[in-house]
Amino acid sequence: MSFKFNFDIDADGEDVETVGVEITPSIPVEETSSGSSRIPAQLHSLDELIAKLPPHIAFSPLSIPLTSSKTITIPRRELFDVKMQLMAEDNNPSTNSSQSFSAAFTDEDIRTNTYEGGLKSWECSSDLVKQLATDSEVWINSSHRILELGCGTALPSCYILQTLLSIPGGDRPVHLTLADYNIDVLRLVTLPNLILAYLYATNSLPSTDPSVTEGAEETPEIELTQNIISSFLSTLQSHNITISFLSGSWSPAMISLIHGGLEYPSTTEETMYSLLLASETIYSPSSIPEFVDMIEYTLSNNNGKGYIAAKDIYFGVGGSVKDFVDMIEQKRWKWEVVREEKRGVGVSRVVGVVCKS
Ligand SMILES: C[S@@+](CC[C@H](N)C(=O)[O-])C[C@H]1O[C@@H](n2cnc3c(N)ncnc32)[C@H](O)[C@@H]1O
Repeated sequence: MSFKFNFDIDADGEDVETVGVEITPSIPVEETSSGSSRIPAQLHSLDELIAKLPPHIAFSPLSIPLTSSKTITIPRRELFDVKMQLMAEDNNPSTNSSQSFSAAFTDEDIRTNTYEGGLKSWECSSDLVKQLATDSEVWINSSHRILELGCGTALPSCYILQTLLSIPGGDRPVHLTLADYNIDVLRLVTLPNLILAYLYATNSLPSTDPSVTEGAEETPEIELTQNIISSFLSTLQSHNITISFLSGSWSPAMISLIHGGLEYPSTTEETMYSLLLASETIYSPSSIPEFVDMIEYTLSNNNGKGYIAAKDIYFGVGGSVKDFVDMIEQKRWKWEVVREEKRGVGVSRVVGVVCKS
């Protein structure tokens, strides 16, 4: 089944219509208990994904207004650049492309169990960034294991990385895990955006200010040289930050990978996460129970906080905040709405915090 929701955020944080991408499954799929086919979970190291990076990326800064006088800037890879890479890979069978993300572009946002919408930034991800900025005191010193589920372009994790890199590295290690249904999303946008976040935090990006670039119309590009990759890695190391990735569906297998291979539902507190982030991940009623399972088995029981950003209701697909909250209340977890956004007659959006104790 495929869907078009008609929302994305443009460089000024405004909602715009976008064009989705038609994608065919790239790796073997597995049956779920309901009989549908899902991509199996896999763990990926940073090195593995670095080896899949393109030689250069075009980007633009996304401005997220926080207050009337403060704006958060997050650079992100341009969607047209991703499409060009995919088309080039489709025309060149010798590339390491998964021959997957078919180059046939349509206006679909999601194709269920095939492509779950990770190539573009969805509206609630900027709400989540704003909330993280508001609550930075809360997470900076207490969150050392951070998981973003359904990360896609990963604006919240990029904001966290930018923030951590702009303060002196602490003694305690920080581990960031980014999970997306599609490995191609991780290699095409998630990792490129994390590298852009590093370059932005270290003032190493070419300027995108027209007054500095003398009105140049070209979208800025950065060459991902060996030097840039090496300094990205050494900066992470000096800040005691490690990054890993997960692809595939939310499942017992993914939970088991997170816990170092322990058989589901076994977990250890050391491999649980103190901060869990998710934006626009509860649109499908059929996958909300799996998403809640992910929270149950990955969010620390000791003051772990899960920030969930979502639209009140997803017309056409049926997921809603109410369905999600009903499920977590049955588990007797706490839920607090910390941000509400509503523009005009559009659907309301919320950011809520879930805690298990
Ligand atoms: C609508 S996109 C949102 C992307 C991003 N968080 C944002 O707000 O811009 C939904 C994301 O949820 C993830 N997702 C949806 N269903 C999933 C499932 N069953 N298993 C794993 N990931 C899933 C996909 O990875 C996809 O990137």
